[in-house]
Amino acid sequence: MYVYSARQIRERLQLFQEAFSSPASTVCFAVKSNSSLAILRLLAQSGAGFDIVSGGELERVRRADKAALKRVVFSGAGKQVWEIDAALKAGILLFNVESEAELELLARRAEAAGVRARFALRVNPDVFADTHPYISTGLREHKFGIDIGLARAIYRKAAKSKWLEPAGVSVHIGSQIRTVDPFAAAVKRVADLVLELRRDGHSIHYLDAGGGLGIDYNDRLDRPHFDAAKKVRDYSAAVLRATAGLDAHLLLEPGRFVVAQAGALLTRVLFVKQNGAKTFVITDAAMNDLIRPALYQAHHEILPVVRRGKSQAVVDVVGPVCESGDFFARDREMQRSAPGDLLALLDAGAYGMAQSSNYNTRTRPAEVLVEGDKARLIRRRETLKDLLAGEIL
Ligand code: LLP
Repeated sequence: MYVYSARQIRERLQLFQEAFSSPASTVCFAVKSNSSLAILRLLAQSGAGFDIVSGGELERVRRADKAALKRVVFSGAGKQVWEIDAALKAGILLFNVESEAELELLARRAEAAGVRARFALRVNPDVFADTHPYISTGLREHKFGIDIGLARAIYRKAAKSKWLEPAGVSVHIGSQIRTVDPFAAAVKRVADLVLELRRDGHSIHYLDAGGGLGIDYNDRLDRPHFDAAKKVRDYSAAVLRATAGLDAHLLLEPGRFVVAQAGALLTRVLFVKQNGAKTFVITDAAMNDLIRPALYQAHHEILPVVRRGKSQAVVDVVGPVCESGDFFARDREMQRSAPGDLLALLDAGAYGMAQSSNYNTRTRPAEVLVEGDKARLIRRRETLKDLLAGEIL
């Protein structure tokens, strides 16, 4: 099961909200990082907006808190007609448009709905961010955004449509970025573009700086050194410096930073087995529950829930899925475990449950939210009946 701390989620959101309190800004939580309804509601009630990438995520925001729909920005390179229509009807804040073709479609759908669509172009600033190649997005070779050099011409053309309202510019250069310099460089390019667009006569009010601020997955619970408040301060200082004097409404889209360290995946040890020189700890969780190690070679700290003595062992922690990529840790020194032990995989609150699947016909875990001294089930464990419900024989 996944377990989350409500307090930490609120605290992290608040760090962002306070760091960006002046000039006015909206922190739009990236729903893709953790889309559980109870967590979205908690964030909405703390004043968060939301960054969505699908009609499904829009529906989640609606169910979590209708009042938050007006604080939604809609990103994503492949929006479909029904998704655009639903977002127009919901009256979201901003469409982050990623291609000319999408902009043309947005204009047609806005006309059909009889409303004007506020949009920002997501520009590709051609800035390198040092992170895993699968989650880096800000270079020209990536599929994301529109070449920043082409933006002015596209805004000029869009301004002629009475169904489109050029309202902002957005950027997102990638995820799990650990230094602030790439953010500063990207936002500076966007801020310069905002000035040019205003000179061209567009009233650009929003600057969406995207998400991407990284955490420290190597941080140890017993020896913590990660200072979240300082991280956010450094990040906001860099973004605010790059936008100084612009008088724009900033939008931020953090996901990981808000929820990753607030969540752990609890798993039980099934067997411990020796293959030659190697020891494998086989757990009941697998890559279908948390795919980050398999997909991005990501590191997650693993702690025994009950500490028993000091006996250590070097082990691979692996799941039952039939792939060698199904591991949580390799050659990790940790407390010797025995069948029945509970282990906690830390920093699993972001891109954990949200990226889970039913691979190997495995049902997905339950989720629990801890508030003070109370723990509340926010998603029951999936059953085989749920899993097979949609299939037709
Ligand atoms: N905004 C946009 C447009 C994004 O594409 C993303 C993440 C975010 C905001 C939030 O980024 P964050 O603050 O969470 O870094 N599954 C990967 C991460 C994929 C990130 C995709 N886009 C992982 O587990 O590391």
